[in-house]
Amino acid sequence: SARVAAAAMSVFVTRRIPAEGLQVLSQASGCRVQQWDSEEPVPRAELLAGVAGTRGLLCLLSDRIDREVLDAAGPDLKVISTLSVGFDHLALDEIKKRGIRVGYTPDVLTDATAELSVALLLSACRRLPEAAEQVKSGGWTTWKPLWMCGYGLSDSTVGIIGLGRIGQAVARRLKPFGVRKFLYTGSGPKPENAAEFGAEFVPLKRLAEESDFVVVTCALTPATQGMCNKDFFGRMKKTSVFVNTSRGAVVNQEDLYNALASGQIAAAGLDVTTPEPLPTDHPLLSLKNCVILPHIGSATYATRSTMAVLAANNLLAGLRGEPMPHELKL
Ligand code: NDP
Ligand code: DGY
Repeated sequence: SARVAAAAMSVFVTRRIPAEGLQVLSQASGCRVQQWDSEEPVPRAELLAGVAGTRGLLCLLSDRIDREVLDAAGPDLKVISTLSVGFDHLALDEIKKRGIRVGYTPDVLTDATAELSVALLLSACRRLPEAAEQVKSGGWTTWKPLWMCGYGLSDSTVGIIGLGRIGQAVARRLKPFGVRKFLYTGSGPKPENAAEFGAEFVPLKRLAEESDFVVVTCALTPATQGMCNKDFFGRMKKTSVFVNTSRGAVVNQEDLYNALASGQIAAAGLDVTTPEPLPTDHPLLSLKNCVILPHIGSATYATRSTMAVLAANNLLAGLRGEPMPHELKL
């Protein structure tokens, strides 16, 4: 009956999302949308109440979807669609156990995130925020031969941790800057992906030792959590630059702080931290050689709009029992 169909399409959206995405849901026949219509994250209690009895959940990377949320949702929950390519916020084992399908947003944010990764790398190695600050503060007195010097990409070795969609897009963009050699690491060699850059698969330790620039573009998993630690930074050259646009927890931040403060490495650029937001009194923010951005990798208007439409279409397809545009294989 119509009543059953309507119930079959009840969805909870955990945030205000780009209008194009919400429109897809609200125009779908029989889809009843409930939304936490705010720029700020849904409070845990509201999330638990909001998911109760829902069939579809459209969530963000800031929502931890664990057993508690799944229990609160109950047995009607059939589809989770996340507005992200990362899925470390989802308890996939619990989700799989309950037969819930998951949609996510690969590919559509690759270019924007790779572009931001390059911007962050250049900001860190050429000291852009520090230099711009000198102009404002009166630190710019005259042209000086050794003032505000940094490190360039020409003839450099770039190490990519995780040569996936974004890692490859970063390498593709960095190559024309005159990079001499690409190294990469991951769960195994990917000759078909590496060929374009002549990239060499190496163990993590060798990547740390030989790279002038390290760019982290892997997923956060139990294997990658805390992977960039004291041992890793200790192997890097004093002139090398570290960039992370994956997830903050891949890095041991205390170890990174010590490496930056002691001059063990030259500089770092982070788009992701733990926690997010990073407290404004965090020690990393006191360092001149650390550029920190507020997780804006995919933040272009066009990309966010496309992500929202994709997330909405994933959700609807899942609810209708159809193939999703991008379903995560569980
Ligand atoms: P992909 O799945 O295409 O790439 C992930 C890569 O991680 C794979 O190449 C994989 O390599 C690698 N990886 C997995 N395990 C390890 C390991 N133990 N050591 C080294 N590498 C490993 O995902 P995307 O490129 O689309 O996205 C990557 C991540 O970027 C997302 O998971 C997300 O966390 C983050 N992201 C951040 C954004 C931001 O705003 N800053 C925006 C978008 C994404 P292998 O296949 O060999 O296992
Ligand atoms: C993701 O999609 O995982 C990013 O972190 C935000 O776009």
